[in-house]
Amino acid sequence: MKSSTLFVLASVVSAAVATGNTTTPVARIPLAKKGLSPKGNIGAAYFMSNEPTGNYMISSLIDPDGQLTLWEGLYTGGNGMKGVPGPPVNVLDALFTQGAIGVSQPGKFLANVNAGSASVTIYAINEQNPAELTIVGKPTWSGGEFPSSLAINKAGNRLCVVNSGAVSGVSCYTVDNRKGLTPIPGGLRDLGLNQTTPANGPLNTPGDIIFSEDEKHLIVSIKTGTGYLAVWDVNPDGSLSTTFTHITGGEFPFSLIPIVGVPGALFSSDPGPTAGYTIYNLDGNKSKSPPITTTIVGQGAVCWSVYSPKSGNYYMTDIRTSNITEVHVEKSLTSYVVNQYHMDIDGPMDSSIVSIGKNDLMYTLAANRTGITVLNVEAPGKLTVIQRLDVADPAAAANITLNRLDVQGMAVFLH
Ligand SMILES: *[C@@H]1O[C@H](CO)[C@@H](O)[C@H](O)[C@H]1NC(C)=O
Ligand SMILES: *[C@@H]1O[C@H](CO)[C@@H](O)[C@H](O)[C@H]1NC(C)=O
Ligand SMILES: *[C@@H]1O[C@H](CO)[C@@H](O)[C@H](O)[C@H]1NC(C)=O
Ligand SMILES: *[C@@H]1O[C@H](CO)[C@@H](O)[C@H](O)[C@H]1NC(C)=O
Ligand SMILES: *[C@@H]1O[C@H](CO)[C@@H](O)[C@H](O)[C@H]1NC(C)=O
Ligand SMILES: *[C@@H]1O[C@H](CO)[C@@H](O)[C@H](O)[C@H]1NC(C)=O
Repeated sequence: MKSSTLFVLASVVSAAVATGNTTTPVARIPLAKKGLSPKGNIGAAYFMSNEPTGNYMISSLIDPDGQLTLWEGLYTGGNGMKGVPGPPVNVLDALFTQGAIGVSQPGKFLANVNAGSASVTIYAINEQNPAELTIVGKPTWSGGEFPSSLAINKAGNRLCVVNSGAVSGVSCYTVDNRKGLTPIPGGLRDLGLNQTTPANGPLNTPGDIIFSEDEKHLIVSIKTGTGYLAVWDVNPDGSLSTTFTHITGGEFPFSLIPIVGVPGALFSSDPGPTAGYTIYNLDGNKSKSPPITTTIVGQGAVCWSVYSPKSGNYYMTDIRTSNITEVHVEKSLTSYVVNQYHMDIDGPMDSSIVSIGKNDLMYTLAANRTGITVLNVEAPGKLTVIQRLDVADPAAAANITLNRLDVQGMAVFLH
C-alpha cells in the first residue's frame, strides 16, 4: 500500500509541474519539533488549509490530557477553493459548510473534499500514530463541482459528498481504507442549484450533508432565506431515490446534527437574519411537525454546531462575534439558550467533541487566529478553554500556505 501511495503522490505532483505551475506541493511537511515521539498519544485532530495552490491536511497529536501537539501537513493531492461571499451574511468561511472533512472511527479513515479539484481524498489512519496519514489510492471525482461537505455512515463503509458549484448534487461511494472510494451505481443525484463555480454564497448553497440516524435517508440543508432540506431515500444497496423531497423551514439552515433521544429530530445552526437555530422533526422524508426557528439576539453568523454527551447540550460557533452559544433541547423539542461564551478573537468554525475519560473535550477551528482552541465541557453551562494552539507561525516557518479565510473542517480520531 505504501509504495502505491507514494507513486500516486508523485504522479499528482508531476502533473502540477507539467502544466507549468510554479508551486510544486511537497507531499509531507513536518510541523513537530525534530525528534518528537508520538508515543503516548491517544488520538489525533485534523483540519485542512483549503488553499487554491494546494490543499493541505494539518494533523496534531492528542496528548493524554487532551491537549494538542502539531505533527505535520500532508498535501491532499488536490486544491482548495474559496466561495464568493455576498450578502446578507458575509461569512468568512470558504466553503459555506460544516463537515468538509470527516473521520470514521470503525473504518479507520479520514476524508476531505478538494473544492478546487472536484475531488475527495481518503486517508488510512495509522493507529500507532494517527497524526501520520497515508493517502489511499487517488483523489476521486466528487461527481460535480465545488464539493463542500461529506457524510460517512456509522459502519464506516459508505460516504456521500455534496457538490455546491455549477454542477450541483450528491454523490455516494463505498469506502475502504485499503481500496479507497468506489462510486455506488445510482448514487449520483442532481440538486438543481442555480450556482456557479466557485459557488456564490452563503445564499443558495448547501450547509451540511448527513445520513439520518436510521441511515434510510440522506439529508442536505440549503440556505435560501426561507431554507429547505433536500431528503433522498437511501436504498439498502446504497443507491438513492431519483428525486429528493423538499422540506421547507428555517432561514439559512447550516449545520445538521441529530437531536439525541428524539428519532428524526435535527438541530441546525441557522445564521439567517432573524434566526439562530432551527429544529426539524422528520418522519422519513416528511415533516412530523413544522420546523421551529429560534432567534439568537446579537448573533453574527452561528453556522456550526456540535453535541456533548456529558452536558447533554448543543454548542454553536459564531465566526463573526467569536461567541459560542450553548443550547439545551428537551424531548418535547422546546429549547433554550443555556450560556454564551466569548472566544476572544478566535472566529470559531467547525468543531468536534470527543469523550476522553470523564471529560468531553471540544476541538474548535479558531479560523481567525489560524489555530485550534481546545475546550473542556465541565458541566452544563460551564465551558473552559484549556489550550490555544497556534498553527499560523509553525506553518509559515515550514512554508505551508495557510489563510484564515480559507481553513476549513475539524475532525478527531481516538484509539
Ligand atoms: C495550477 O494553479 C492554478 C492556479 O492556482 C490552478 O487553477 C490549477 O488548477 C493548477 N493546476 C494544477 C494541475 O494543479
Ligand atoms: C440563475 O442565476 C442567474 C444569475 O444569478 C439568474 O440570472 C437566472 O435567472 C437564474 N436562473 C434560474 C432558473 O433561477
Ligand atoms: C418518500 O418516502 C416514501 C416511503 O419511503 C417513498 O415511497 C417515496 O418514494 C419517497 N419520496 C421521494 C420523493 O423520494
Ligand atoms: C457575543 O459577542 C459580542 C460581539 O463580539 C460580544 O459583545 C458579547 O459580549 C458576546 N457575548 C458573550 C456572552 O460573551
Ligand atoms: C479577527 O482578528 C482580528 C485581529 O487579527 C480582530 O481585530 C477581529 O476582531 C477578529 N475577528 C473576530 C470575529 O474575532
Ligand atoms: C521556506 O522557504 C524559504 C524561501 O523559499 C527557504 O529559504 C526556507 O529554507 C524554507 N523553509 C523550509 C522549512 O522549507
